[in-house]
Amino acid sequence: MTSTLEDALAALRRGEAIGLPTETVYGLAADASNPEAVRRIFALKGRPADHPLIVHVADAGQIDRWARDIPEAARRLAAVFWPGPLTLILRRQADVPDEVTGGQATVGLRCPDHPLALALLQAFEGGLAAPSANRFGHVSPTTAAHVRDEFGSAVPVVLDGGDCQVGIESTILDLSGATPRILRPGRITRAQIEALIGEVAEGSASDSPRASGTLDAHYAPRTALLLMARAALVAEARQQQALGKRVAVLAMAPLPEGLPGIALPADADGYAHGLYAALRSLDALGANLLLAQRPPASRDWLAVNDRLRRSAAGAGWDQEAT
Ligand code: TXA
Ligand code: MG
Repeated sequence: MTSTLEDALAALRRGEAIGLPTETVYGLAADASNPEAVRRIFALKGRPADHPLIVHVADAGQIDRWARDIPEAARRLAAVFWPGPLTLILRRQADVPDEVTGGQATVGLRCPDHPLALALLQAFEGGLAAPSANRFGHVSPTTAAHVRDEFGSAVPVVLDGGDCQVGIESTILDLSGATPRILRPGRITRAQIEALIGEVAEGSASDSPRASGTLDAHYAPRTALLLMARAALVAEARQQQALGKRVAVLAMAPLPEGLPGIALPADADGYAHGLYAALRSLDALGANLLLAQRPPASRDWLAVNDRLRRSAAGAGWDQEAT
């Protein structure tokens, strides 16, 4: 059954979690000011309770409701990139539930660029805590059907906003410390951020806030996945086939001749858009092994390479536990 905006509002007001479309990936959203509702998200995902959630807001005017000591850089970035795939980590207001922040002194804020999400946020008149709507460690969902596959009747209300346009999670920028730092790469690039606020650091520092998307073994399909250069991949696939193994390939277009699998566009944005759906489809083939062609190492492929590396790190082992 198709869920409506009214269904979603009613469920959120009852303290339930819903499937929320955004331009990046689908979120599992609940009322960010209701600790019990937020705890439901963790229970549904099987996510450790000390991993903080992003609060989704209707517009930049909401920043002060959730954060304080807000640097000028945050205002400038929000003015340009919101609604859009940029999450800002800021010092939190005292009344933000510990369930949302993982007990940390900071809160992550983002305004999603999706008409349904924005309409819901405006009608709800509050913040929505929402991690990606997948079980912990698994591939993020980019369609409403993916969310239903993950949670079934445990999450009865899923707003169908179509295929997520970006396809990988937002860029996370920590503005709570002395130096701005990108904790997770995404569609909004370091160069775009630096053009507005000057130099930023990249990667997590020892005192950085925790970000679960920064764990190895994340975004993982259940089938083992190996990353390799195209020529090596073709040779490996043939060798595995000769041994009677079933392999499937994730290539940059075109698909190598005679090998089963999926070819994604050879540009970084097009590839990101299709990546998670491709991983889910490949997983469903029941192959013994997934072989993914390693994309170029250039900067425009940074976010895709980050997700692929984590998919490869975890696949095939420890998946039941995460
Ligand atoms: O594009 C996205 O960001 C999607 C959509 C649904 O908005 N959400 C998403 O949520 O990717 P999640 O929970 O799967 O990843 C959010 C990341 C996590 O790595 C979390 O640890 C980090 O944001 N995060 C949230 N609040 C934080 C905070 N206060 N300090 C540091 N990291 C934080
Ligand atoms: Mg996630």
